[in-house]
Amino acid sequence: MKLLRLLFLFVALPALAQQGGMWIPSLLKGMNEKEMKHLGMKMSVQDIYDVNHSSLKDAVPHFNGGCTSEVISSQGLLLTNHHCGYGEIQSHSTVEHDYLTNGFWAISQAEELPNEDLEVTFIVKIEDVTTKVLEGTQALDEKARVQKIQQNISSLTKTLPKESWQENSIRTFYEGNQYMLFVTETFKDVRLVGAPPSSIGKFGSDTDNWVWPRHTGDFSIFRIYADKSNRPAAYSKDNVPYKPKHFFPVSLKGIKEDDFTLVFGYPGRTTEYLPATAVEQTVSVLNPAKIEVRDAALKVMDGFMRKDNAIKIQYAAKYASIANYWKKWIGETQGLKKTNAVAVKKNQEKEFTARAQKASKQAQYGNLLADFETNYKAIEHYSLARDYFTEVALRNTELLTIGYKLYQLEQVYKNKGAQAFNDRKANLIASFESTYKDYNKNVDEKIFEQLIALYGTKVPQQFVPKELAGVDYAKLTKEVYTSSKLTGFASVKELMAGDADKAITALNADKGYQVIKAMADAYFEKVAPKYEELSLKIAALQRTYVQALLELSPAEARLFPDANSTLRVTYGKVKGYEPRDATYYEPVTYLDGVMEKYVPGDYEFDVPEKLIDLYNKKDYGQYGENGKMPVCFIGTNHTTGGNSGSPAIDAKGNLIGLNFDRVWEGTMSDIYYDPSICRNIMVDMRYVLFIIDKYAGATHLVNEMKLVK
Ligand code: ARG
Ligand code: ASP
Repeated sequence: MKLLRLLFLFVALPALAQQGGMWIPSLLKGMNEKEMKHLGMKMSVQDIYDVNHSSLKDAVPHFNGGCTSEVISSQGLLLTNHHCGYGEIQSHSTVEHDYLTNGFWAISQAEELPNEDLEVTFIVKIEDVTTKVLEGTQALDEKARVQKIQQNISSLTKTLPKESWQENSIRTFYEGNQYMLFVTETFKDVRLVGAPPSSIGKFGSDTDNWVWPRHTGDFSIFRIYADKSNRPAAYSKDNVPYKPKHFFPVSLKGIKEDDFTLVFGYPGRTTEYLPATAVEQTVSVLNPAKIEVRDAALKVMDGFMRKDNAIKIQYAAKYASIANYWKKWIGETQGLKKTNAVAVKKNQEKEFTARAQKASKQAQYGNLLADFETNYKAIEHYSLARDYFTEVALRNTELLTIGYKLYQLEQVYKNKGAQAFNDRKANLIASFESTYKDYNKNVDEKIFEQLIALYGTKVPQQFVPKELAGVDYAKLTKEVYTSSKLTGFASVKELMAGDADKAITALNADKGYQVIKAMADAYFEKVAPKYEELSLKIAALQRTYVQALLELSPAEARLFPDANSTLRVTYGKVKGYEPRDATYYEPVTYLDGVMEKYVPGDYEFDVPEKLIDLYNKKDYGQYGENGKMPVCFIGTNHTTGGNSGSPAIDAKGNLIGLNFDRVWEGTMSDIYYDPSICRNIMVDMRYVLFIIDKYAGATHLVNEMKLVK
């Protein structure tokens, strides 16, 4: 056993070392190609990205700017996550047609449901435009440099060649060391085709969120429509299904541990090149503060939601959204500690210093690490105050969040006058109607009481307005919630009635408004200016640091650019992991696990009867394997928020899975990727097809796809 383990270590480590990273698809030749082939890939890199011939990238559009999706038929059928299509599914749901609860399946194209604000964007071409963007910036100081770059980008975006139905955009990579042009096509007629019930598509809900072993069928299906020339067009009933340049064949062959996988999508944001000092700050100062605020807010909500069903419905979506990153930050903090990320970074910094010395680059790079140290120390209090302001006022206390919108409205009055104020006021007040529909004063009051006390006592005291420093928070809360007009739609409307002067005067006499105004004034006077000044300095250091790393690091350093919502390739293997001592997690889950978690009637773990039937009969059709139905699997692909809905692709370019989450212990991959515990979670395509075909009877959709057996 021991020998086997040792052997495993020797064999597995070098292969694992070639994983992690989010790579630019047009630049895979060389190291990435070699690594991918070594990991088992059978395609060429032109099969993944090509400009002159169709390639995989032609089947991977950005889904509404926040998720990823992939085309899976010649008729523009589009796959993404259930949690990515959630808003659309919800907006078509009514009490009589509750598609969130029961699922939705269009029987024919005529039944597919149009969506007003949904669009998907394909990438036509990616091109390096660094030289053009940096033209004329050499001699400038930091502020002027940033401005000049902005100017260059905006004029290049207008002048670089493209077709009339396409768009240009330029994005920065490696913290400002590289700029890339993206020529894109955006389709605005995208219709809902199918979604499983939430008891499948959201199975496990918040309890299972960020958790492995996982059993969620997190998928939904759309179709892209185009005009008669197959070009993007606004919604029209005359539009026809889009004919893609490429679509993914779906593999029924299944996966096993160590199989090659590639995930292709739009990761949103990572910070992989922070110095040790910044990681330390995240672990011990910033994450704990944000977690503490959300912890308090969630506990209050949970208490009310458990006792009152109406509140549960009002607060379910808010709870899920606050809990998502709360849980992620907890996992991230623990993972960074467990993998000694700070020590690892410190070691890398020692090596960096030695390399800079050896290359006689001390003059250029010798002060970098010390400057980081100074500036991160200097910004710490400002960052902390900013995080508290964001979390307490802008995110988790509804009265303050609403009040802040009115604060911005007052600024409009001050800066632009009464006309602009009145225009904005009408829209703002109208938007409050739906806000207050899901508002409960008692819940908000309890949250306010907790969070305002955190704000008053935990924010560095020099930034706390006198109204909140050392006061009786329970008493303040009582005063606010007995008198403020911001606790209901009707009373806010009344408060803001009349002409601008009258509304502003009334607003300023409101006790709730006075609290947020004091907080916002203090923030904008004492925190924001210095925070921005130091951020700019840190960004410049960060750019120089990454430039130095690119210049001085050996190839094994595998430097990839941080995620920036552009298309990336990440690759790895199907692989289990050890979350803690003496525990090993297998890489594949089965329908048996759904039944193990089944709690009849529970809002998170109920299972539809039809699915139980299919399970009892083992009626899995062509989708099962050895009498079992695979559900989810994990791999070493390096993903982040935005990768939801990304295709998981096998060695030959077939679709094997749909990415939707990461494992909790490894969510620190946004800051430090460690192949021993960082895993992405995918739903197995066989489960997706099984649900469509066997569960929902939408066999016509499966018939539209190309299956690889
Ligand atoms: N954790 C996943 C991501 O960051 C899924 C979130 C949606 N699901 C949920 N239960 N909130 O987006
Ligand atoms: N769940 C995330 C998303 O929606 C994916 C992740 O963070 O791994 O993009």
